[in-house]
Amino acid sequence: MGAKTALVTGSNRGIGFEIARQLGKQGVTVIMTAREQEKGIKAVEELKREGLDVHFQELDITSDSSIKHLYSEINKNFHKLDILVNNAGVFIDKNFTVLEVDRDTVSKTMETNTYGPLFLTQALISLLKSSDDARVINVSSGLGSGNSIGESHPAYSLSKAALNIVTIQLADALRDKGINVNAMCPGWVKTDMGGAGAMRSVQDGADTAVWLSLAELNTTGKFFRDRKVIDW
Ligand SMILES: NC(=O)c1ccc[n+]([C@@H]2O[C@H](COP(=O)([O-])OP(=O)(O)OC[C@H]3O[C@@H](n4cnc5c(N)ncnc54)[C@H](OP(=O)(O)O)[C@@H]3O)[C@@H](O)[C@H]2O)c1
Repeated sequence: MGAKTALVTGSNRGIGFEIARQLGKQGVTVIMTAREQEKGIKAVEELKREGLDVHFQELDITSDSSIKHLYSEINKNFHKLDILVNNAGVFIDKNFTVLEVDRDTVSKTMETNTYGPLFLTQALISLLKSSDDARVINVSSGLGSGNSIGESHPAYSLSKAALNIVTIQLADALRDKGINVNAMCPGWVKTDMGGAGAMRSVQDGADTAVWLSLAELNTTGKFFRDRKVIDW
């Protein structure tokens, strides 16, 4: 087992899968999660073939019972958590403006992109406290940053702006408990979500989250892109 243990949500594909791979390559034991067991096991098997110490746990971040079950499995099998990467997310209002978006779309987006990271982090605090250098990394987006918000994709922007606020609040609450909490934007990345026209590879998209997970830094409550602090 690696010295550090990380949990990466939504790591069956896209940026989360690459974050799990890069952390694994650095010797971290990685708990990979997916909401569908079959997809998660397939992803874990792929990284095991690369020689990485990866494990599968099922997780739907919108479900309290799923979060509770995950907590007890990690507590039983790993006893602590050093790194939590809240990566799982949805982008279901690509074609809506703020004048058209419906309540169901806003609710589903908030449940996944904002409430999921908030309640998962809450549930795992006691395990993070058992680490001597715990980090929480929230995968946010420039589309949730004050400078870039416009009329388009209102639910997604709202959810990521709110995730940024959750990041600041958690960082404040956990500052004296030795748990650093930061947000990062991966840039526009070629994944199912980003689409084929995106500018960045998953390797580049994952880089800052991995750096925030492992680099020697004592920063909390900040928003990063390309390893640099950016404005909220
Ligand atoms: N791609 C970009 O250009 C870009 C830019 C800025 C920020 N981001 C952020 O980066 C993160 C990863 O994005 P991506 O591009 O890798 O997206 P992706 O390819 O669509 O992957 C999203 C992942 O989240 C999982 N997920 C969705 N809802 C979930 C739930 N309720 N519970 C657990 N897992 C759930 C998905 O699982 P399933 O396979 O089951 O659907 C999948 O594993 C997201 O937070 C996204 O907002 C992406």
